[in-house]
Amino acid sequence: MALNLLMLGPPGAGKGTQAERFAKERRIPKISTGDILREAVATKTEVGQRAKAIMDRGELVSDEVMIGIVRERLERPDAVSGFVLDGFPRTVAQAAALDRIMAERDPLIVVDIVVPEDELVRRLGTRSICRLCGTGASVGSTVGAACGKCGGRLVQRTDDNQAVVLERLKVYHRQSEPLVEYYRVRPTFRSIDGAQPPDRVAADLAAAIAAAGNGAAGVQG
Ligand code: AP5
Ligand code: MG
Repeated sequence: MALNLLMLGPPGAGKGTQAERFAKERRIPKISTGDILREAVATKTEVGQRAKAIMDRGELVSDEVMIGIVRERLERPDAVSGFVLDGFPRTVAQAAALDRIMAERDPLIVVDIVVPEDELVRRLGTRSICRLCGTGASVGSTVGAACGKCGGRLVQRTDDNQAVVLERLKVYHRQSEPLVEYYRVRPTFRSIDGAQPPDRVAADLAAAIAAAGNGAAGVQG
């Protein structure tokens, strides 16, 4: 059975950190819509040029654009035997579209990473990413240091200033949090405590996925 994993959680919950780690371990692609958009911005594609201002305000890019990007990505051969989705879906319309895309495929395993709001604000206020390769630096890295992967300088993400972080959290509560209720009724839904050290979160994530996988097997009969 393909491992089709979807990570839910507010900005700063650790979706990207855990998705990267898990995808590497299981050798499946990590599909992060934030990373895809940041790359489109950096390479100045048409989508990137339109998305930049929206992202810098902390708002959401349109469902139509995002669904198109994800549909195309999930159809590529490397995603057939599984994937980790990070940052999509973010609206109920995106979730409904994903259900249509996945209709003939193995069930989605959905893990919601729960972290208190003050911790999210703290994390985003201190996060650094690489200016060159865009990689999120490891926990505790600081702006100005060198990227562990490529040596590029670590900088603050353009949407991590305080005003935009607060807007992103508002947008999350309004548009993305309803997804928890959307998925909670499924036997393949789990939620984990993201306010622990990364290794503990990773261990809980692996356990949640194993348990949710049993739920999925039940669904398939
Ligand atoms: P996106 O890039 O997805 O940003 P986000 O949802 O705001 O989430 P973040 O990447 O900020 O947080 P994360 O959960 O990945 O946390 P991370 O692991 O980095 O989206 C950016 C923008 O793109 C959106 O605002 C929107 O405009 C657009 N967009 C993207 N997808 C879209 C969609 N589907 N529809 C419409 N628009 C879309 O961790 C955060 C920090 O905490 C890091 O510094 C990390 O080192 C640290 N950390 C991680 N885990 C721990 C831990 N356990 N303990 C302590 N620190 C930790
Ligand atoms: Mg992220």
